[in-house]
Amino acid sequence: MAKPRGYCAGVDRAVQAVEKALERYGAPIYVRKQIVHNTHVVKTLEERGAIFVEETEQVPEGAIVVFSAHGVSPAVHQEAARRQLKTIDATCPLVTKVHNEAKRFASQDYDILLIGHEGHEEVEGTAGEAPDHIQLVDGLDAVDSVRVKDPDRLVWLSQTTLSVDETIETVSRLKERFPNLIDPPSDDICYATQNRQVAVKEIAAEVELVIVVGSENSSNSKRLVEVALDHGAEASYLVDNASFIKDEWLDGVTTVGVTSGASVPDELVAGVLERLAGHGFDDVEEVHSVEENVRFALPHELRKDLRVTT
Ligand code: F3S
Repeated sequence: MAKPRGYCAGVDRAVQAVEKALERYGAPIYVRKQIVHNTHVVKTLEERGAIFVEETEQVPEGAIVVFSAHGVSPAVHQEAARRQLKTIDATCPLVTKVHNEAKRFASQDYDILLIGHEGHEEVEGTAGEAPDHIQLVDGLDAVDSVRVKDPDRLVWLSQTTLSVDETIETVSRLKERFPNLIDPPSDDICYATQNRQVAVKEIAAEVELVIVVGSENSSNSKRLVEVALDHGAEASYLVDNASFIKDEWLDGVTTVGVTSGASVPDELVAGVLERLAGHGFDDVEEVHSVEENVRFALPHELRKDLRVTT
């Protein structure tokens, strides 16, 4: 078992924001997009009265809507205000940090190269902060098609949940083309993404198979599969829960590595361990790499109503 794994501070805060909103205001609470990219979490909150919608227009006027951990563009805030929605913004503070960097560099007329995955909600939200200044660079292959106004006024930023190694490669390729490209003031790939990748690297070389618990649309979980394969695992699979594990994956395997993405609750990992124990993998060792003690306060709109002091 890799450690750290599972919930990060931003996911914990976002899920709690929906839970507390349900307790404080009662159902239904609308949530724009999946609050975090995990099927089980979304289903559990739905059972408690959350209604997940794709766009703010689907929320009845005057209702309460929570924005997901991945963040939203200013246009979404404007639309919510126009429809007189009460909003609770559960954007992870580490995503907000990237939004603020984007706004600052755009206001100084920099071109911003945003490294990230096309179509991911976080990237859409960040790009929406300064659409005229930001262009997406989706991996190494996209580097050659980048066109900029002024190569001496250029900065790169990134999605928070990328592979650290791949991003380093993309940046070095960008710097071959644009030697004066500026680095972000601090890491955009968040602590949780980085730590989970460090932890899976530690176990990948010691096992034949790495099982990553996480949903298909979870960027940081998918990166863990790639990192495991790049660092010595012969095979690695992403599973939403224990029922996705195929018996044939375990044929000839003596040691299995297990980790989970930042949006995955412990109970799903426990289910995987139980399933593996049923196949004789019942001697469990946890390999600690980095200690984590990050916590974020609930969104201020909610804290105000809950009368919680920080
Ligand atoms: Fe935030 Fe990173 Fe988690 S950006 S939501 S701490 S994966």
